[in-house]
Amino acid sequence: MNDFLWQERDSQDFIDYGRYFVPQREYQLQTIADLIPPPNGPAHILELSCGEGLLAEVLLHRFPLVTVHGYDMSPVMLQQAKARLVPFGERFAPRRFNLAEREWRTAEPRFHAVVSSLTIHHLDGAEKQQLFRDLFPMLLAGGTLVIADLVTPTRALGTAVAANGWDEAVRQRSQHLDGNDDALARFEQLKWNLYRYPEDPAVAIDKPSHLLDQLKWVEQAGFTAVDVHWALAGHVLYSAIRPET
Ligand SMILES: C[S@@+](CC[C@H](N)C(=O)[O-])C[C@H]1O[C@@H](n2cnc3c(N)ncnc32)[C@H](O)[C@@H]1O
Repeated sequence: MNDFLWQERDSQDFIDYGRYFVPQREYQLQTIADLIPPPNGPAHILELSCGEGLLAEVLLHRFPLVTVHGYDMSPVMLQQAKARLVPFGERFAPRRFNLAEREWRTAEPRFHAVVSSLTIHHLDGAEKQQLFRDLFPMLLAGGTLVIADLVTPTRALGTAVAANGWDEAVRQRSQHLDGNDDALARFEQLKWNLYRYPEDPAVAIDKPSHLLDQLKWVEQAGFTAVDVHWALAGHVLYSAIRPET
């Protein structure tokens, strides 16, 4: 693995601080589930970069006939997810993968839905376009794509709004969960707010794209009903459908 990929120290920081750093996290997780039609029988959902399994847990509770295939690059994350999801037995199917590679992508339409939270931004624009093209044939006709992620604002004032909004969201969660600003201080210390601390593009592990570009790429890949459902502090949640015909 090269130095410009997500590292296990990032996994541990996210496991420790994700509940503070992700704006309206519980709302996002429930909304992703709300956007997936309940399947009529046994079905499969693919989660790209499942992390510690929080979204998979919501999906497994919500859809009792569904198997969630949780892929991630990090052994630490996969271990956490496996431990969390023991009660669901074989309905959680973990796998180690690299999102940027293509060996895990198949032409077989298998999935009722493909979901992802806070990971597509690890791909650059061209890689995102290829990902959307490759996910399309993996979904069954009528299947749903739901993505929650960071995006790049189109102008400096938008970036400032995202930076300030993200700090404020972390401050509120820090106060709400712990009654102090300690998690906000850690957010600042880690320079996690990429709108305030832009990464050097030559070594960046985060490569968010403009929202409108992403929606166009999704549509160009063949998806319809492309729609945005929520946005806050540079974070967005959107979905699309693989049409029936
Ligand atoms: C910010 S965390 C989000 C985790 C989880 N989806 C969530 O929302 O709680 C980013 C996740 O992407 C995974 N990841 C980072 N780069 C990856 C890559 N190139 N291939 C696969 N997974 C990757 C990390 O291991 C981590 O679980």
